[in-house]
Amino acid sequence: MKSKNSNLHAAKNIKDDEFYTTYDTIESELSHYIPHFLDKVVLCNCDDPFESNFCKYFLKNFNILGLKRLICTSYGYSAVAGTQFSLSNNDNRPTGYVLDVVKFSDTLGEISDDEISEILKTPNTIRKLNGDGDFRSEECLEYLRACDIVVTNPPFSLFKELVTEIMRYEKKFLIIGNQNAITYKEIFPLIQNNKVWTGYRFGEMKFRVPQDSKPRKYRYWIDATGQKWRSLGNAMWLTNLDNKRRHEWIALSKLYNPDDYPKYDNFDAINVKTIKDIPCDYYGIMGVPITIINKYNSEQFEIIGEANHGSDNEFDLFKPTINGKEIFKRILIRRKV
Ligand SMILES: C[S@@+](CC[C@H](N)C(=O)[O-])C[C@H]1O[C@@H](n2cnc3c(N)ncnc32)[C@H](O)[C@@H]1O
Repeated sequence: MKSKNSNLHAAKNIKDDEFYTTYDTIESELSHYIPHFLDKVVLCNCDDPFESNFCKYFLKNFNILGLKRLICTSYGYSAVAGTQFSLSNNDNRPTGYVLDVVKFSDTLGEISDDEISEILKTPNTIRKLNGDGDFRSEECLEYLRACDIVVTNPPFSLFKELVTEIMRYEKKFLIIGNQNAITYKEIFPLIQNNKVWTGYRFGEMKFRVPQDSKPRKYRYWIDATGQKWRSLGNAMWLTNLDNKRRHEWIALSKLYNPDDYPKYDNFDAINVKTIKDIPCDYYGIMGVPITIINKYNSEQFEIIGEANHGSDNEFDLFKPTINGKEIFKRILIRRKV
């Protein structure tokens, strides 16, 4: 069904924000954090309750997780806004809506799809917001303050703003982003200071995209049902919920030698080509691929900074070159033990 808001969303130029996460992507990541959700208020604040698999996952597993409350807010400019819920208002403003549930089923285990459809149709389960559902709006920040954990896939263009708001209110979160965000000045210090870390899936993720998405040469396809898809090779989960991954130690087997581990031209650190090449007997600063962030254990290593352009922010210490040749950006680490 075509959304009355499709023109609005085109006008707002948020097409690149419309990547819908698969149920499998959510379920497999969430499986690592089940105990964190007991008696918690979960907020999905970029999530249309009719379309988002985050909303579906938490409704389905509401009683298994032992949630206290689930709140999902949609965005009025979204491509799917208003397709399944009447948003008629007099002045034609883009309006968001909110699903807000506490106990809603006596089922002990998983709640069925049919029951979820019924819940979504129940009067007052979903109601219109006053504004467009922007997660930065005061009424949505009210939900943020009321929640314990934010779980969503936000528009990548607003990723750092969402993380900043979540940290401002000292909330827990588990959200999807693009790995490029690791070196943002708003995100990097949080990783460096062990306030946030990556989840499990790091790399490939596929997403449903709206029917009016333009074809692309790469990482785009249409399935047998006509659904359009795109994939990213550098997606990630970012979180401040503790997980086992961040406590696993990287097994180090290589020995340092100056030929295999040359120093940078302009900084006293050695270059390490891949994570598996990190030498077990070097205690100075090492430049390693950015993927270290998904393997790194803060008991084993400390993060010193990044080597990117040498000027992006105070953590970007130098532009990595060896014998005049430029090297791809690096994370600078040092052994702790
Ligand atoms: C990457 S999509 C993901 C949708 C859903 N979270 C999922 O994973 O399937 C991001 C969603 O956020 C919505 N959005 C864009 N700007 C927003 C804002 N300022 N506040 C809240 N939601 C926004 C978009 O319309 C889009 O539906």
